[in-house]
Amino acid sequence: MKRILVTGAAGQIGTELVPALLDRYSGSRVIATDIKEPTEALAAGARFEALDCTDAGSCRRLIEEQGIDTVYHLAAVLSATAEGMPQKAWSVNMDGLFHMLEACREFGCTLFTPSSIAAFGPGTPADPTPQDTLQRPNTMYGVTKVAGELLCDYYHARYDVDARGVRYPGLISYMAPPGGGTTDYAVEIFHAALMAGRYTSYLEPGTQLDMMYMPDALRAAMELMDAPADALKHRNAFNVTAMQLSPERLADAIRAHIPQFTLDFDVDPVRQRIAESWPRRLDDTAAREEWGWAPEYDLRTMVEDMLVRLAERLGVTSPVA
Ligand code: NAD
Ligand code: SER
Repeated sequence: MKRILVTGAAGQIGTELVPALLDRYSGSRVIATDIKEPTEALAAGARFEALDCTDAGSCRRLIEEQGIDTVYHLAAVLSATAEGMPQKAWSVNMDGLFHMLEACREFGCTLFTPSSIAAFGPGTPADPTPQDTLQRPNTMYGVTKVAGELLCDYYHARYDVDARGVRYPGLISYMAPPGGGTTDYAVEIFHAALMAGRYTSYLEPGTQLDMMYMPDALRAAMELMDAPADALKHRNAFNVTAMQLSPERLADAIRAHIPQFTLDFDVDPVRQRIAESWPRRLDDTAAREEWGWAPEYDLRTMVEDMLVRLAERLGVTSPVA
C-alpha cells in the first residue's frame, strides 16, 4: 500500500491522475494538494489539503506527518502564463521542485515530475527531436523545465533520490481545463466545436506540435514509476509522444463527425513564437526501449473519445455516430 502526495492536484493532469492512482494502486492513500480547491469531487481514498509548494516548511511537514513514500509533483505555471509573470513562474517551478526534492531526500520518497516539449528551443532539431540533444529554450517556462530536469538528475546522482519524469507534449482532456499553455487550443477547439460549431485558432495554420490524450499521459507517469530502476538509463525527462497535430489537421478530424465545423485564425504572436520554438515531433525511442512506452490513442480514436465524453459533460448530443 502506497502513501502518495500529489501537488498541483486541482490542475488539468492532477484532476485525472488522483483517481487513476487510486484505481491502479487500490488500497493506497492519496493526498491531493493545491493552492486552489479541486472542482471535481475527490475519489474515495483521496483527501484534499491546501499546500503551497513554494513553502518549504509546509511541504516537509506534510510529507513527514502523512508518512508519504511517493510524490507526483505537478504544481507549476505553464508556458503562456509564465511569459506574463516570469518571476512568479521561476519561483513556483523551481523553488517548488527544489523543496519537493529536498523533502524526498530527507524522507526517502520517490518523485515523479513532468518536464515538457518546452525544454527544447529554436536551435534544437525539430523533426524528430532526439532524447539527448541541444536544449536552449527561450521561454521562462522552458528555462525552468531544463533546470528542473538537471536538478532531478543531480539529486539522483548526489543523493540517490529516485526522481523520474517524462517530457509531456501538449495534453488533450475533457475533465479539467488546461492551465494557460501554448497547446490549450487543442482542448478549446473541442468545446467550441460542440457548443458553437466554429473555432478561431491563435496558432497559425501549419503549426505542428506533439500532442497526447490524457489517458495515455496518466499511464505514462504510472508505468514509468513502476518500471524497474535497473532498466532505466535516463530515469528522468523521457521524450514521450502520441500524435502530431496542427490546428487544421485537428479540425479535419473533428469535421469527420461535425461536417459543418469551421476553423479560422487570429494569431496570438506570443503563443505563436513559443510554438515555433518547440519540437514538431519527439523521438520517444528511449522511453519505448527502457520502460516499454507505447501510446494507445491516435488522432482518430482520441477525437472520437473526446467528442463523446465532452458532449456528455456539457449536456449536448454527441456527434459521434
Ligand atoms: P495546470 O496549470 O492545469 O495545473 C497546475 C496546478 O498547479 C494548478 O492547479 C495550480 O493551482 C497549481 N499551483 C500553482 N502554483 C502553485 C503553488 N505555488 N503551490 C501549489 N500548487 C500550485 O497544469 P497541468 O497541465 O496539470 O500540468 C502539470 C505538470 O505537467 C506541470 O509541471 C506542467 O509543466 C507539466 N506539463 C503539462 C502539459 C499539459 O499539456 N498539460 C504538457 C507538458 C508538461
Ligand atoms: N502544454 C504545455 C504548454 O503549452 C506544454 O508544456 O505550456
